[in-house]
Amino acid sequence: MKQRIQKIIASAGLASRRQAEKWIEEGRVRVNGLAVTLGDSADPVSDRIEVNGKPIQVESEKYCILLHKPVGYVTTARDPQGRPVVVDLVQNFPVRLYPVGRLDLNTSGLLLLTNDGDLAQHLAHPRHGVEKTYLARVRGAVSPSTVQRLEVGVKLEDGLTAPARVEVTRQQGTHSWVKITIHEGRNRQVRRMFEAVGHAMSRLQRIQFGFLTLENLAPGQYRRLSRLEVARLKQL
Ligand code: URA
Repeated sequence: MKQRIQKIIASAGLASRRQAEKWIEEGRVRVNGLAVTLGDSADPVSDRIEVNGKPIQVESEKYCILLHKPVGYVTTARDPQGRPVVVDLVQNFPVRLYPVGRLDLNTSGLLLLTNDGDLAQHLAHPRHGVEKTYLARVRGAVSPSTVQRLEVGVKLEDGLTAPARVEVTRQQGTHSWVKITIHEGRNRQVRRMFEAVGHAMSRLQRIQFGFLTLENLAPGQYRRLSRLEVARLKQL
């Protein structure tokens, strides 16, 4: 993401913005080998910025954002089919953010986005098995034996699912609301689990990721996690 060059130099801790402006005016700053003038911008990640012939090391600030993903958004940075993407919803940050894991187009709920590659890798790693809780609206009445099957593990085409926690929270007319907690992250896992036990799903929302919940965020709203929350995520 492009920023004023004096700001990049200042963020790298080399000088104040004022001093960096002076350096630019004195012709001591180059971007990708070319001299720059005051007012020019550069991308601290992809451009090579040199001061007095030495490349500067830029450590960008780390962000972790908790987004309430609305239905109808694709969990990628860019969609070849031109559909709305989740990163469009979090544009007020000076860095590029990437989703941690994925929610389907028709799933809403808690999605983390970050520019911290180590954190993203940690959270997505199957070994860490972060618990994710979903609220599903499914067709039909879900019997206690079906709950047990979902809890113990159902056979999907990519193997048996790991033990899950399942609770029917409401039965309303022709539908049931079911809370399900899993710690795997296979593609479309929750939908496939319900399909495997004969319940078509009409709605799916992720309401919890580890200790994080959606709180009062409306679809499309987000907030930045605190340092303490990020530190706790790293311990999961
Ligand atoms: N399981 C699904 O089926 N879909 C999601 O988006 C997430 C988990």
